Amino acid sequence: MEKIFGRPIVTQEDMKRRIDELGRQIASDYAGRNLILVGILKGAFAFYADLARAIRAPLRVDFLVVTSYGSKAKTTGKVKMVTDLTEDIKGQDVLLVEDIVDSGLTVQYLVKTLSKRKPRSIKVCALLSKPERRKIAVKVDYVGFEISNKYVVGYGLDYQQQYRNLPYLAVLDQVDEEGRKS
Ligand code: IMP
Ligand code: MG
Repeated sequence: MEKIFGRPIVTQEDMKRRIDELGRQIASDYAGRNLILVGILKGAFAFYADLARAIRAPLRVDFLVVTSYGSKAKTTGKVKMVTDLTEDIKGQDVLLVEDIVDSGLTVQYLVKTLSKRKPRSIKVCALLSKPERRKIAVKVDYVGFEISNKYVVGYGLDYQQQYRNLPYLAVLDQVDEEGRKS
């Protein structure tokens, strides 16, 4: 699999270092709070597993599954929650864990939807952010790496549901930033 993607943009060593930093920061920021770490599946699974173990503090885990449909190129692209949380988040400190913030639509939708359940706080932690692609100005409280306008796969991120198990992040050269084959 490594042969197909010769260009890692973040190595496994850099990733581990950054995730350990994020974990320490989050543990300190949430000291004495009721942290519930909400993983946004499927893309966040790899980052989530590493981040959760880097946070040396009490927390609860939960997950939800979203799908987006419609062209990613349009702001009319719709996001839908297809599997909901199992925990009640009322009064809890929710930290959403996302693989990548691109247009901002997914984060905007989830913050809006989950805020109605009256958590004490709701924040966002994303492994990656592509600021140039933003269509909605969403607040991303913790960012692993800001990357340029390239389509990336691996470490949870897919291209047509493949490559999520690549152990590092790589640029898919043959695919443009919308995920279209060029
Ligand atoms: P947004 O709603 O436009 O911010 O998109 C967020 C979702 O789009 C992420 O959770 C990813 O699933 C997907 N996505 C955005 N950019 C990439 C990429 O470069 N590679 C793989 N998936 C991506
Ligand atoms: Mg995805």
